[in-house]
Parts: sequence; structure tokens; C-alpha cells
Amino acid sequence: MSILALNDNSLLKTQSYINGQWVDADSGKTFDVTDPATGHIIAKVADLGAIETRHAIEMAEQAMQSWKKKTAKERSVLLRKWFDLVIANQDDLALIMTAEQGKVFSESKGEVAYGASFIEWFAEEAKRIYGDVIPNTTADRRSIVIKQPIGVVAAVTPWNFPNAMITRKAAPALAVGCAIVLKPAAETPLSALALAELADRAGIPAGLFNVVVGQNAPEIGAELTSNPIVKKFTFTGSTPVGKLLMQQCAKTVKRTSMELGGNAPVLVFADADIDKAVDGAIAAKYRNAGQTCICANRIIVQDSIYATFVEKFTAKVNTFNLGNGFESSTTLGPLITAKAAANVDSLVVDARAKGATVTTGGKIDSMGDTFYQPTVIANLSDDMRIAKEEIFGPVAPIFSFSTEEEAIAMANATEFGLASYLFTQDIARVWRVSEAIDYGMVGINEVSISSEVIPFGGMKESGQGREGSKYGLDDYLEIKYICMGDL
Ligand code: SIN
Repeated sequence: MSILALNDNSLLKTQSYINGQWVDADSGKTFDVTDPATGHIIAKVADLGAIETRHAIEMAEQAMQSWKKKTAKERSVLLRKWFDLVIANQDDLALIMTAEQGKVFSESKGEVAYGASFIEWFAEEAKRIYGDVIPNTTADRRSIVIKQPIGVVAAVTPWNFPNAMITRKAAPALAVGCAIVLKPAAETPLSALALAELADRAGIPAGLFNVVVGQNAPEIGAELTSNPIVKKFTFTGSTPVGKLLMQQCAKTVKRTSMELGGNAPVLVFADADIDKAVDGAIAAKYRNAGQTCICANRIIVQDSIYATFVEKFTAKVNTFNLGNGFESSTTLGPLITAKAAANVDSLVVDARAKGATVTTGGKIDSMGDTFYQPTVIANLSDDMRIAKEEIFGPVAPIFSFSTEEEAIAMANATEFGLASYLFTQDIARVWRVSEAIDYGMVGINEVSISSEVIPFGGMKESGQGREGSKYGLDDYLEIKYICMGDL
């Protein structure tokens, strides 16, 4: 019996989904999924390992053989049904998400819709995979390019977006004719399993969408990255883990796409609309309690408006309501684990010790060890850990700069290059700065930059490949050149 008040309790699954079957671990082992806000156990889920992962990969390969021969339109019809079912079950999926991830319920509902949008988008977009006819160098030849599904895809997804990071990979893979084996984060497997239940109900054939849940990420990851059947590996998570997985994939030369860490700067120029910049920087910082790869990690403000900006920013942050994501009054939820909150705190302690000023918050709240107070820090310097590390929590460090050149240099002084934001009213500056900063995504006077129609991805050590948009299909396709001679 579910402890969640779902409309449809059969969406709460505790077994893995392989080849259209709900399965336990061969070992019979299970592990607990807990609510980060209360520490309560929500479910005991089957704890699978390498053997079951290998089986899932083999089944995926079999299932793909007929799936890849279907027309894009036939595949699209089934994906559309999956999309419709996700939307029809939005509330239940959001309840499951808030329970296992902690995010505020309205944000969970938003993520379910965001996740579904990738299914709808790729169901349509795969109908438009065109090839080429290449003008030849000799008269007796014709050269043609066709695009084919790359093969079995393996995916490892994170806990911060337990739904959307799955659909952003699974939908393009399935839409072009691939099968996928997914390992969701052990913290948030229930959202992934609910998606599998809905894929099953939509009639997506057995073996195409497999979800292998297990606590032993290195063991499952080793199978996904070494099995020669897998032709493409896609990962969203930290840069150190991404590097390791890329090394593992190199042995069988798998195609990889990596959506890794970020260190997003928000550059606020003195000519910006300061109130809009404050609101934007707050939205960019505190979404999902600061636990996104594109969250503002360094707010960098021109010195002439620095004091006013810090004052206005702090006043707004003081209106946040920290609490359980299920309470309607809550505007900021807990962090995923007590360890995550302790790590965020260590960054604040380090900054304070080196002379920074905490203008509000600054510690783990008495509400519980996963609750970090919404925090603002001013008067920072480069030697502080918070200037370089991804915070992944509700802490806003506000730096200052004096010239545009300095702002660009500060923005680029990181190995990361995922999202960046810029607030200014000067159109010439918009172009100069956008072109000078090394980021895959640049938001101008706008921080809500994600959607299914845009190419999401980073430069430098933030990863490779793009997800969403027309470009999001490329990573799941092989280009084949056919030369017809003797004509
Ligand atoms: C992420 O943080 O990994 C994804 C954020 C988004 O899709 O907006």
C-alpha cells in the first residue's frame, strides 16, 4: 500500500522494467527510497546489478530489430500516446517526484510537463530526418547519405530532474528507432519506473525502454559502458564521473554525449534594469533549491550598482519560505541528502573564514539536516572555494567587476561552460559579450532558457552533444554514405 495519496497507485513501482516485464533483483536484494524532507521510507525497490543489466542490453538489441524498420510515423504514434499518458498523470508523477526528490510540488508539476514536452517534440521531429544527395566528382556515380539509428543506447540519469533528464534521452533514441537501457539515480528511481509503466500502457513494445534500478552505480555503469552491444552512451551528472565513464566507453569506441557540471555566471551591468536583474538572478539561483547544472553559480555585478543589488537581492531572498515541498506555503525545498547540505555548508564556512559577508542565511536549518537556509554571500574573492566549485544548493555568491573586459574574463575563468546569463540594455554589449564568453547557452535578460525546442548543452568540461531541438536527434543517428557507381 502506497504512503502517497496517488490517484493511481499502480504508478508506484518497486521492481525494475526489463523486456516488458517487472522484475526483482536476481539476488532478491532491495534498498530504501526515502523522502529528503522527512527521512521517511517511501518504497523498497529491487536492487539490480551487472547480470540483469546485461540481460536488459541483450533484450534491447532484439527488440530494436523490428522497431528500427517501422516508419517514423508509426513510432511517433506510440510516443504520442506515451506523451498523452504522462500529461494525464501529471499530478501523480509530481507527487512521486516531490516525495523522492524533495522539490516544491509546483516545480515537480512543471518538470513533468517539461519532461513530456521532449516526448512530443521528438515524436514529431523524427519524421524530418533527411538524407542528402551529393553532387559528384565523376559522371558515372551518385553519392547518397542516409541516416540510421545508431543502435542500443545506454543512459545514466541524475536525481535533480528525475523525469525530464530521462525523456530528453529516451524520446530521441526511441523516435529514431533505437532501444534504450536506462539506469536512473538510486535516490529517485520511482519517477523513472512510473515513466516505464506509462510507456508500457502506451503500447511501446517490450524491450525498447528498459529501466534497471540499482544502488551499485559503478557495477551497472561498467556493464553499460563496456558491453559491445551498446553503441551510444549518454550521461547527465558530474564532470568527474562523466570523465570516468568516457574513459570506460573508449575501449569499445562508443558514441558518448555528456551533460556535465556547470559554473554559470550571471553578469549584471550597470545599464541593466536592476529589479529585473535581481528577479532573474534569484530565479536562476534558487530553482530546485539550487540543484541544477544551469543554476547561477556566480552572480557578477558591476561595482557601481553592487551595494544596491546586494541589498535588493537579500531583501527578496528573505521572503523565501523553506519547508517540505508538499506544503503550499513552501517556496524552497530541502536538498537531496544531508551530505549534500553539509557540502554546501562547507563552501559557506570556507568563504566566511576567508572574509566574505553572509547577508542572510548561512547554515543548515533547525528544520532538519537536509534543509539549507536560502543564503546570500557578498564581498568574495577568487581564493574562496565557492568561486570555483559548483555549489548545487541555495547559496548565492555575489562578486563584483568594474569593466566589461573584467566581466568577460571572470565569466571565462572556469573549466566549465554550460549556461551563462547577461543583464544589460546595451545591444552592442549583448553581442560583444555573448560572442566572447565560452558557454553553450547564453540567456540575455532572461534566465528561463530551457525547453524542448532549444539545444541544451555545454562547452569545455561541461560536456559534449546537445539535447532537445533539431540537434538532439544527431547523437542517436549514424550517417551512412552510399556510393553508386557504373551508372
Ligand atoms: C540540469 O540541470 O541538468 C537540467 C536543467 C534544465 O534542463 O533546465
